[in-house]
Amino acid sequence: MAPDFHGEMDVSGSKNATLPILAATILNGKVSKLYNVPDISDVKITIQILESLGCKVKKDKKKLIIDSRNMKGTTIPEELMRKLRSSVIIAGAIISRFGEACFSYPGGCDIGSRPIDLHLKGFKKIGIKIDENTSNIVCKCDKIISTEVQLDFPSVGATENLILASVLGTHEVIIKNAAMEPEIVDLADFLNRMGAKVTGAGTNVIKIRGVKELREISYTIMPDRIEAGTLLLATAITGGEIKLNKVCPEHISPILHKLQECGCRVETVKNTIYLKSNAKLIGTEIKTMPYPGFPTDLQPLFTTFLTVCKGTSIVTENIFENRYKFTQELKRMGAKINIEGKTAIIKGVKRLHGANVESTDLRGGASLMIAGIAARGTTKIKKVEYILRGYENLDQKLNFLGANITREEGKED
Ligand code: UD1
Repeated sequence: MAPDFHGEMDVSGSKNATLPILAATILNGKVSKLYNVPDISDVKITIQILESLGCKVKKDKKKLIIDSRNMKGTTIPEELMRKLRSSVIIAGAIISRFGEACFSYPGGCDIGSRPIDLHLKGFKKIGIKIDENTSNIVCKCDKIISTEVQLDFPSVGATENLILASVLGTHEVIIKNAAMEPEIVDLADFLNRMGAKVTGAGTNVIKIRGVKELREISYTIMPDRIEAGTLLLATAITGGEIKLNKVCPEHISPILHKLQECGCRVETVKNTIYLKSNAKLIGTEIKTMPYPGFPTDLQPLFTTFLTVCKGTSIVTENIFENRYKFTQELKRMGAKINIEGKTAIIKGVKRLHGANVESTDLRGGASLMIAGIAARGTTKIKKVEYILRGYENLDQKLNFLGANITREEGKED
């Protein structure tokens, strides 16, 4: 175990709430002020997209001021689109304001096939005409129609895209089998504070009544539940102790329960979580599900933690089919993991050992970091740019708690 891993810290603003809310700042055609914005590269790319469309963006530490008054662009540049999967939800906001948008298929972390069919099917249902015959997807819409959209799967992005596309107008759109993630509630809160009429966010039926106009807004982004889970798992795997502030325990209750099952002490009071790890950790079973189930984004981190828990653990990944790539790297560090389709079977070892490894994606990369601080010896992680996409200063935060992480700046990897 890494010696003396302990401390108290605040959780940063949520990446997955910031990205759709940034898209939503297009809608008012006015000035929006956002607080508690995480300093991560996915946010930087989203800002570049907004700027390419004609928005003016000012950044002051964790505060962003977005002025969409003079925005005229409706085409999302392909090179930026390719860098970020959630860029696709900017299309919904552009269509709502301008009645048209042009974009290409999005990129992002390679954790599965990640299609956008549910987004496009939903768009068509609410009256958006889509031409997919060129290399771009061209959307046009005279009027959003009042209708119900039944999602085949509660996709987070498709739910957000449909909400954004339906904000302005005179219709009523109902989304059934909507995603219920807290970030969707944050987006709806943001929109409603601007004057939108979105009800039911946080349940699986969301109604959006179109409005004519929206007002200026100041808004504070919710805490990042995935960062909170990552810090808790870093503490659990190193036998440490942590108090997290500015966090919403309810948002990560499946993780807190599983950590308790494995032998950690967990206490929650209002917006704080206290965790003390245990010298005798025991394995468990987890299955990823849409919210309020166990979040897929914390599966790689929990799987990593389970590599040092006694006995056999079983993990089932139900959301993304390609989310076990990082386990190949963990095996280099002594982890005993067998993958069979959706399932990972983990035989706990006493301790991992340092190795040269490579990030495969954002959460997989963070998993290697927490494995590295718990391991005996030195771990070198290549391709840390994946981690920087979605974590604000994760290395500094872990060092504050007692890790010893250094960045080799200037090197490509
Ligand atoms: C969001 C989160 C991501 C998280 C994921 C699931 C953001 C920026 N990202 O991603 O961190 O891991 O939710 O909680 O908020 N699908 C389709 N067709 C579609 C859309 C999705 O088949 O049109 C499938 C995906 O391939 C995947 C599943 O639905 O298997 C879930 O995807 P979705 O909920 O859309 O995830 P994202 O919004 O991309």
